[in-house]
Amino acid sequence: MSWRDDLERVLIAENALQQRVAELAVEIDQKLAGNEPLLLVCVLKGAFVFLADLIRRMEARHEVDFMEISSYGTGTASSGVVRILLDLERNIEGRHVLIVEDIIDSGRTLDYITRNLRTRQPASLHICTLLSKPSRREIDVSVDFIGFEIPDEFVVGYGLDFAEAYRNLPFIGVLKAAVCQTSKPV
Ligand code: IMP
Ligand code: MG
Repeated sequence: MSWRDDLERVLIAENALQQRVAELAVEIDQKLAGNEPLLLVCVLKGAFVFLADLIRRMEARHEVDFMEISSYGTGTASSGVVRILLDLERNIEGRHVLIVEDIIDSGRTLDYITRNLRTRQPASLHICTLLSKPSRREIDVSVDFIGFEIPDEFVVGYGLDFAEAYRNLPFIGVLKAAVCQTSKPV
């Protein structure tokens, strides 16, 4: 049985994702042209697939670094508890930083990250997210680049997981409600 059987439907097809990622790269190149070299901060784990595709479409000079944040204990609802599991390797003081995130849901994770990174005094701080669920927002965060606004449904694929599964799907899909309810998250 394939993991694909756990999906209700495809929300964003592979070609639509690839096209939008290419557009985002152009937007970033244009808007942040004066900020080279950029430091792209990839928020693990969900954003690593997006980052990998995005940087191969970008022309602006950049480096990448990684940060892992935990906002979800288990399951599909935000616990509201945010902590750093892995911190950046680099000192970002005076650097032009672009945060690369997979999805903004309540906004808690990004609010925490931006407040945390600002205390390190970067020269500039911008945010790029592949997906956003505006109807779920609890904390307002100003996002500079958004791939797609999506409805309030739990999605997986293209780096996004449920209980660590489905990250490898090349599209964004909606998980069957029965799977979210019955699977035991790790
Ligand atoms: P927030 O702190 O509520 O904005 O949640 C952001 C994080 O929750 C994202 O970085 C994801 O890791 C995770 N998340 C939120 N919605 C989804 C979803 O629909 N699928 C998979 N992960 C999600
Ligand atoms: Mg994430």
